[in-house]
Formats: sequence, structure tokens, C-alpha cells
Amino acid sequence: MLVDASNALLTWYDAHKRDLPWRAVAEEIADPYRVWLSEIMLQQTMVAAVRPYFHRFTTLWPTVEDLAAADEAEVMKAWAGLGYYARARNLIACARAIVAQHGGRFPNSEAELLQLPGVGRYTAAAIAAIAFGRRAVVVDGNVERVVSRLFAVKEALPGAKNRIYDRTDAITPAHRSGDFAQAMMDLGATICVPKTPACGICPLHSFCAARAEGDPARYPIKAKKAERPTRIGHAYWLERGGEVLLVRRPAKGLLGNMLAFPSTEWTEAVPAGAAPARAPWEQAGSIDYVFTHFALTLHLHCAMTDDDGGDGIWWPVDMLEEAGLPTVFAKLIARGRAWRSDQRLGLRQDI
Ligand code: ADE
Repeated sequence: MLVDASNALLTWYDAHKRDLPWRAVAEEIADPYRVWLSEIMLQQTMVAAVRPYFHRFTTLWPTVEDLAAADEAEVMKAWAGLGYYARARNLIACARAIVAQHGGRFPNSEAELLQLPGVGRYTAAAIAAIAFGRRAVVVDGNVERVVSRLFAVKEALPGAKNRIYDRTDAITPAHRSGDFAQAMMDLGATICVPKTPACGICPLHSFCAARAEGDPARYPIKAKKAERPTRIGHAYWLERGGEVLLVRRPAKGLLGNMLAFPSTEWTEAVPAGAAPARAPWEQAGSIDYVFTHFALTLHLHCAMTDDDGGDGIWWPVDMLEEAGLPTVFAKLIARGRAWRSDQRLGLRQDI
């Protein structure tokens, strides 16, 4: 029955697989560099969001050698907006390790892949299977959902991860395990979706225990999550002669190495930290942004200055879109510009 299920899935995949730019064309072998790049980009990110980034990266840096030789700031800038910036820092480190330690060729075993920066259990398995045709057990969020339904796994996530891994192992074929993994992911993304699975057209429907029970959408069962805390921070728009002060964030920590507006720490209590200069600061609204582990309300304060002070990079206000700010800071640009047009109209000047 397990063999029948994986055969049914592969037959479905041959007819319905999504046309994705990192996949091999016809009988060709997928390029390990493109497979690796796509898998890093697809971590916690939807295919639709990844497509333009994948296109840009492979145009700017067509090979792993090109990426290894790239300027780090340029790579961070090209990544801006995709989120989870540790991925971009690891991407550069990994490309450099491939060139320095592996002569520019990706290793083909899971064990060696696992040694690379930013490559964990999932990514190592995905590259080994998809780019090198090795049998590997590939479990991402989509696969977790499909498998927990197929076997009606009663244990809640995250505790059920090992059980789901073992079940996936049991149905992974010796041949075409890369296609099998991608078929599971495509099935999870298009048919076995979280809320309204389309069981009527599912190639696995006659094998599916959750479908037989009658309520597949109740799987995967999830443990209750702790509520996301809210943090507060203050960000500063300091403007001088049509330019605004940006800083590069410290390498370690959230949004490390990215360009940003100066800001205080982000905390649940009163945030520590100060404005980047003495100036007649005015409040200019706030934005909300949700990170994985906390929600943030970021208040913007704006001021004009004539001082040379302020350590950082003065960036033309009209070109802020090209600075590659992470989305949370990019959302402040409209507030800052609204403030400065109020200034021009004299709406905020003291009478
Ligand atoms: N999600 C992550 N990797 C994927 C792949 N190779 N195909 C489809 N969806 C994916």
C-alpha cells in the first residue's frame, strides 16, 4: 500500500508539477546551486514571494563562484524584503565555503551538506535528493501536513516531528526521491492545503486515513502556542539637505548587517536607547510589524538638522527605495515623507 501511494503521487507529479525556475527541464539534472539557492529562499517563504528574488539572484550571480565573490552589502541589499536575514548572511558564508573547501562544487551527501552554513536537516536532504538523486527523507511544513493526514497522526506538533519523519521515511521511494519530495510539497501547496483540502482531486485520497475519518483539516494537530508578546521601539528620521541618516545594524542579532533608520532597542518595557542627535524631534506616527517571536510597534520621530553629527550614512530621501531597507523600516518611509511634506506646507511649525 505504501508503494502504491508513492507511485500514485509520482504519476500525479508527472502530469501536474508546478513549473518552477529552479527545477530541471525535461530529463536534465537540476543545478545544485539553483536548488540550494531556492531551498534557502523557500524556508518560511512562499513560492510566489521567492520567484522575483530567485530571478534577480541568478541574474546577478549565475554561479556559486559569482556569489562567493560578491560584495556582502550588495547581497544583503538584493535580499531586502525577503525577511529572515540570517539566511542571507549564511548564504554568502555557504557560497564561500563551497568555493574554499569544495572547489566550487556542492558535496552530494547529506552528511557533508549538513556541515555547510545555513544548511540544516531539511535543506541537506532536499539538495541531496533533488540535485543529486540520492535517497533522502525531506520533511518541510507542507510534507508534515500531508503525512500527518495520510496517517492520521494523533500526536500534536512539534512533539510529533519524529513520528512524522519516520512515516515520511516509510513512504519515500528508493528511486526518484527528489521528485517524490517535490511532489509532496506541491501536493501540500495546491491540494492538501491547510484549511480546505481538495480531497476530491487528491491522488492520495484512497490511501488517506484522515480522509477516511471524515475531517482531514483537523490535522496536523498542533500544541497551543504561547501568545506573541508585543514590543515597542522608537526610530529616527534625521534629515539634512534632502538626505536622511541611515545606520548599518550590528552584525549579530535581528536584521544584522542591514541598513536601517537609527532606533532604540525593541522591548516589552520602556525601550532603552537614545535619538542619534540632539534635534527638535517631532512624532510622526507609528507602524506595526509582526516578527516570528514578537509583534512590534515602532514609533517614528522626525527632525531636520544642520549639524554634521550622526554616525552613519546619509542617504537621499528620494532614493530610499534603493537602500534595501528591511520591510519593517521600509514601512516608515511613507511616514517620514508625509512628515516632511507637512513641514514644507508649514503645518507643523510653531506659531
Ligand atoms: N518548497 C520548498 N522547496 C520546494 C520545492 N523544491 N518544490 C516545491 N515547493 C518547495
